[in-house]
Amino acid sequence: MGSEELQTDFMTMTRFMLEEQSRCEGATGELTQLLNSLMTAIKAISSAVRKAGISKLFGIAGSTNVTGDEQKKLDVLSNDLFINALKSSFTACALISEEDEDMIVVDPDRAGKYIVAFDPLDGSSNIDCLVSIGSIFAIWKKTSPGPVTSADILVSGQSLVAAGYALYGSATMMVLTTGCGVNGFMLDPAIGEFVLTDRLIQVKTRGKIYSINEGYAALWDPVVTEYIKQKKFPEDGQKAYNARYIGSMVADVHRTLVYGGIFLYPGNKNSPNGKIRLLYEANPMAFIMEQAGGLATTGTKDILSIQPGQIHQRCPVIMGSEEDVRDFLAVAKKHRKQEKEGK
Ligand code: AHG
Ligand code: MN
Ligand code: MN
Repeated sequence: MGSEELQTDFMTMTRFMLEEQSRCEGATGELTQLLNSLMTAIKAISSAVRKAGISKLFGIAGSTNVTGDEQKKLDVLSNDLFINALKSSFTACALISEEDEDMIVVDPDRAGKYIVAFDPLDGSSNIDCLVSIGSIFAIWKKTSPGPVTSADILVSGQSLVAAGYALYGSATMMVLTTGCGVNGFMLDPAIGEFVLTDRLIQVKTRGKIYSINEGYAALWDPVVTEYIKQKKFPEDGQKAYNARYIGSMVADVHRTLVYGGIFLYPGNKNSPNGKIRLLYEANPMAFIMEQAGGLATTGTKDILSIQPGQIHQRCPVIMGSEEDVRDFLAVAKKHRKQEKEGK
């Protein structure tokens, strides 16, 4: 077929999910329905991020609304879109959002079996300068009967049945895992659909990039200081790593997935658990990274094995290419041994 001919057979995300579902015995389609509703929210966020309808958002020059004062902030708008889409999908019974202090319980007449945790707009500090931002979500099943309790919510990442993120970068892409590998779907604005473009994404076993906010270097733990020094001044004759840090976890992790390397948001003297939230940032990204053949750790344990104590808890994050993360763990182990020996 000539490249200028119109495609007539797309693998859209919905079609991909339907095919996966047909292979899975006992599947009811509820997860596909849930993801479809998320896709709608994400398309609307993508359009707002790209300032579609800018005249409506800000008013044309000379009109009264040039400052955009009446406009909702993008993270509030994204949160509303996620919540409304999920509540009306009949697939979720409880929602946990970065933007809401408490969990949101869905009315019983609209409730389904899934619990969804999400960061509706990740990378807020990059919104106003038009740098890449994203959305992240994690999905698991409520297994107990009766009303939703904190025991249904406070589960480790090992309970996830699906996780994904949307990256609003130079294009909009959704990356998704349902526990059988990781697939990437690019939004084709011409047809308004997410089309499978990156099948079974695998992260390189070793990369050439480290990604960390070096502004906190004075507050780092000696493990982090030593590891980063190794990357900048390698003693084994290897080339030094390149530094890349966007400051939007979705964008930094996506680059790590595609190019390889390591992303770190460790604890520091001022915030021992770092900044990244376990339920809706660290867990979904760790699940994706592991499904792509990489690793995700706090430096002492696998992120996915953490038993949460509360919904907004933070955890240190080190994730990426297997050998890079293992190098970090080796430095951590050496320091623990030296501490034990009182050195
Ligand atoms: P959010 O915008 O959802 O609050 O998350 C921002 C997070 C994360 O995306 C990123 O990795 C980190 O903040 C960057 O923090 P620093 O500015 O401290 O590096
Ligand atoms: Mn975030
Ligand atoms: Mn956020």
